[in-house]
Amino acid sequence: YYSNMKVVTCIAPVNIAVIKYWGKRDEDLILPLNDSLSGTLSTEFMCAKTSILASPSLQENRFWLNGIEQSFNNRRLESCLKEVKRRANQALPHLNWNISICSKNNFPTAAGLASSAAGYACLVYALATLYEIQGDISGIARIGSGSACRSVYGGWVQWCKGTTSDGGDCIARQIAPASHWPEMRVLILVVNDARKKYSSTSGMRSSVETSQLLKYRASEIVPHRLSEITEAIKNKDFEKFAEITMKDSNQFHAVCLDTYPPCIYMNDVSHCIVDVIHAYNEYKTCNKVAYTFDAGPNACLYLLESEVEEVLSVINYVFSPPTANSEEYVKGLTVSIKTI
Ligand code: PMV
Repeated sequence: YYSNMKVVTCIAPVNIAVIKYWGKRDEDLILPLNDSLSGTLSTEFMCAKTSILASPSLQENRFWLNGIEQSFNNRRLESCLKEVKRRANQALPHLNWNISICSKNNFPTAAGLASSAAGYACLVYALATLYEIQGDISGIARIGSGSACRSVYGGWVQWCKGTTSDGGDCIARQIAPASHWPEMRVLILVVNDARKKYSSTSGMRSSVETSQLLKYRASEIVPHRLSEITEAIKNKDFEKFAEITMKDSNQFHAVCLDTYPPCIYMNDVSHCIVDVIHAYNEYKTCNKVAYTFDAGPNACLYLLESEVEEVLSVINYVFSPPTANSEEYVKGLTVSIKTI
C-alpha cells in the first residue's frame, strides 16, 4: 500500500534506581540536582516496545500509547524528535516524512514502575535507529523523562548530573555490565497498579521549592553515597549495597514528606513491606534483601538468586489474602509478585 516506507521496532528495559533522582535544577532541559544510579532489568518480564513507521503517504504524525491514540502535541515527545532529527544526516530522504509511533508497556503505566523510563528510552532508541544517528543518545532520552537516560544502557548505570548549563555532559554511563553480578535479582511487589496521584514532575517541583532536606541530600549526602555504592557493586558487597539502597529510598521518601504540602507515595502496605524486610534481615543476621520504592507504593526488592525462594515464601505468607481463621494476616492486603 505504501509506495515507500521505513519501519523500526525496538524494546527497552525498565531501570530501578538505588540512588534516587529527585529534583531538577533546570526543568526544560531536565538537568537533575544530583547524580543517580540504577540497575537496568532484563527485558524478559518488563519492557516497553515501540514501532515507528515513516512514510511519505502519511498525512500527519500520530502516536499511540498502549493502543490509545495520544496527541502528538506533547512537548517532551516533540523535543526528543527535534533533537534526534537535528543530529541526523540532513540529506536522509525520509527525514521529512510523517511518522506513526506505537508504544506499549507490558506492565502498569505510571504506577511508579518506571514506565516512562522504559518508554522514552525505547522511543528515542527507535527514532535514533530510524534516522541513523550515531553516538550517545542518553542525553536525548533524558529530555523525554529524566530517568529514561539510564535505561539506554544495561547493567549498573550512573546518570551524571553534569556541570554545563546546556546539559552537554548530563548523560548516563555504564559502571558495570549485568554480567559482573549475575546472581543479582529483582522482585517487584505490586501493591497498587493504579495511576499515581502526583506525577514525579509536580512532586519534584514542590520538593525543590519547599524541602530543605532535599538541598542537603543533593549536596552533602548523595556524592558520598554514590561512591560508596559504586565500590560495593564493584566488590559485589551485597551487605553494603543493600544498606545504602534502603537508606537512599528512605531518604527520598523523607524528602517527599519534607515537601510542603507533602507528597506521599508509600502506603501502609509499603511500610509493612519495609518492616518485613528488616525483620528478615535481622533473622538472617545480615542484609540479604534490599527494598527500594519509587514515586508509588510498589516495592522493588534487590536480592541474590540464592535468597529468592525463601523471600518469596515469606512475602506470600505475610501478604496472603486473609482467610476465615488466619487473624495474623494483614487484612485486605494483596500483593502480586513478579520475578525479574
Ligand atoms: O524520570 P521521572 O521524571 O519519571 O522521575 C523518576 C524519579 C524516581 O523514579 C522516583 C527516582 C529515579 O531515580 O528513578
